[in-house]
Amino acid sequence: MGLDDVLSWVEQDSAEAELASQIDFERLPTHVAIIMDGNGRWAAQRGLPRVHGHRAGIDSVRDVVEASARLGVQVLTLYAFSVENWKRPPGEVATLMTLLKRYLRQELRTLLDNNIRFNVVGRGDELTPDIRDELAFATRQTEANTSMQFNIALNYGGRAEIVDAARCAMDAGICANDLDEERFAGFLYTAGQPDPDLLIRTSGEMRVSNFLLWQIAYAEIWVTETLWPDFRCRHLFEALLAYQRRERRYGGINRPVVAG
Ligand code: IPE
Ligand code: IPE
Ligand code: MG
Repeated sequence: MGLDDVLSWVEQDSAEAELASQIDFERLPTHVAIIMDGNGRWAAQRGLPRVHGHRAGIDSVRDVVEASARLGVQVLTLYAFSVENWKRPPGEVATLMTLLKRYLRQELRTLLDNNIRFNVVGRGDELTPDIRDELAFATRQTEANTSMQFNIALNYGGRAEIVDAARCAMDAGICANDLDEERFAGFLYTAGQPDPDLLIRTSGEMRVSNFLLWQIAYAEIWVTETLWPDFRCRHLFEALLAYQRRERRYGGINRPVVAG
């Protein structure tokens, strides 16, 4: 992992190689979260049905998962299907689920080869048994992997997650006075994982659409006009470079570096 690994993977003297060489590998975001948006618009621009955009988006997922693991990102969370996305036409929902199954089958080898641990965040119990089985299989097969954790947010809603966490805390018999932020975070789907440092959204929308509401409290947000099916590791490198130019203050103040 690191620059040499990335350079062995991207084309020599390419724009990707030039961007990668500017990245400070000591200051990578620990957790990158991505709202993969714009598949429908990508298809519409080509006069195609929306599902073609979802199909094309799989190549972006593959590229970004592999690039993130090779860079040394510790956690990558991709927003694949929200609790609100059930409002879409049944045919579109069915295609999204079929594509997910196909991705998992085709990419399991790559996940294993790259030592990536696969995990699902969301209300898994509301998914159909075939999808649940597929997800459970990929999770089990990769559970001993020690490199990047790859979370897929599926039937995910930030508010639903907070409600589910509150229910779990009550079920665990936690009394109100014992509850604090750290303890509460231990009941979220992402328990034990670091919060996202960098939140990327494709296709230009300036909203978070119910994604990781608790966890993105201090995430740096980077929005690109690029539609998800056009997103490649080059865009990820651009996001990382933009992130490294940010100054994170967490509500504090700038402390100028004083010489001597
Ligand atoms: C993102 O692309 C994929 C999912 C939400 C599942 P969209 O399908 O939302 O594409 P647009 O936003 O309509 O272009
Ligand atoms: C967010 O995209 C959900 C996913 C990427 C899975 P949407 O396309 O559903 O969000 P809105 O409707 O534009 O807010
Ligand atoms: Mg959308």
